[in-house]
Amino acid sequence: MAVVSDTKTPNLRCLKAAFLAMEPSNCLISLARRTSGGSLTEEVQNFILELCVNSSDISCNLSYMMNILKKVIVEAESTCEVVVEGLYEQFAKIALLQVYVLRREENRILKKISFFLPSGIDDRSSQRNLVVSLYCSLNLLEGDTGCALWPSCLFLSEFILSYPKLFSDKVCFEVGSGVGLVGVALAHVGASKVILTDGDGSTLENMKCNLELNHLRSGKVQSRYLPWEFAAESELLKYEHDCVLGADIIYDPKCVPHLIEVLRMLLKSKRTFILPEEKEASVAYLATVIRNKETFNYFLRAAEEAHLSVMDITQDWQPLNLLPYMLSYDRTSVCLYRIS
Ligand SMILES: C[S@@+](CC[C@H](N)C(=O)[O-])C[C@H]1O[C@@H](n2cnc3c(N)ncnc32)[C@H](O)[C@@H]1O
Repeated sequence: MAVVSDTKTPNLRCLKAAFLAMEPSNCLISLARRTSGGSLTEEVQNFILELCVNSSDISCNLSYMMNILKKVIVEAESTCEVVVEGLYEQFAKIALLQVYVLRREENRILKKISFFLPSGIDDRSSQRNLVVSLYCSLNLLEGDTGCALWPSCLFLSEFILSYPKLFSDKVCFEVGSGVGLVGVALAHVGASKVILTDGDGSTLENMKCNLELNHLRSGKVQSRYLPWEFAAESELLKYEHDCVLGADIIYDPKCVPHLIEVLRMLLKSKRTFILPEEKEASVAYLATVIRNKETFNYFLRAAEEAHLSVMDITQDWQPLNLLPYMLSYDRTSVCLYRIS
């Protein structure tokens, strides 16, 4: 049997991270091919079997594992001389298990997102890898948008991890936080307080689960119910935040006026340092994929009317690529705006 390498090899490290993040099977197969120089060698098949599938908590991700095993088997059968026997055995075992194991009612899956942090980027941590566990939804059609993982929140998290000094020791307030990934990144870079908010009850419950999963249910990271339509200035300003964040929150024209009003109120916050005249205005960082130009232009017009300045900083403040294994994530589709 071919020896199974550990994850010290960069390509195998990417392959394992892609598996844990539950990247689509075609992306995983592409990475596997890249690792073994074309076809899936016996070594790569063994790696997927032993260090991905067999070493995972199988009760959470049975269908994903079945799908991956099936794709690996089909690929190996069509391009390799040897197909590792264990792949068939494990496929049959999981197929049987799937019949008996009760699936989570809400159709949530557990993804593990690994950020590959280069050394020196993060003085506060000796870890080279930040791994965030997140319950996400596959079900986007039934009002579950806040429980999915969107490219903008991956981008904003990369931005936070790439420029930790912008956020360390700061009070950070996020609107429309969804799964809560941005909050985990903020906690990692040493934000003094993080307030995550969302206007959808089930999204907020899922976010709380995710914070617990990542050991962040402390006073430092809080989650709050905040529908933009009913936000009150006195409530928003009591946190004395330094900065505001948002990922993929500009998409519904009906919500745009309420979102602008929330941003206007939040950006009024001024923290007083030592002397009262030493006041620093809040800024907001919004990451977004512009899916509908009209809606985005509407947002820009409404921001101008509210005397908010919106600056595109996508090119000047490029984050590092901390998710090199995530082939399904198109970073070029995301824009980053600084609002003040
Ligand atoms: C596309 S999701 C993005 C979630 C997360 N920021 C991310 O990037 O993964 C939009 C989020 O905004 C929230 N949202 C939408 N309309 C809202 C409103 N009127 N008030 C508060 N939150 C709202 C949704 O519940 C959802 O969590």
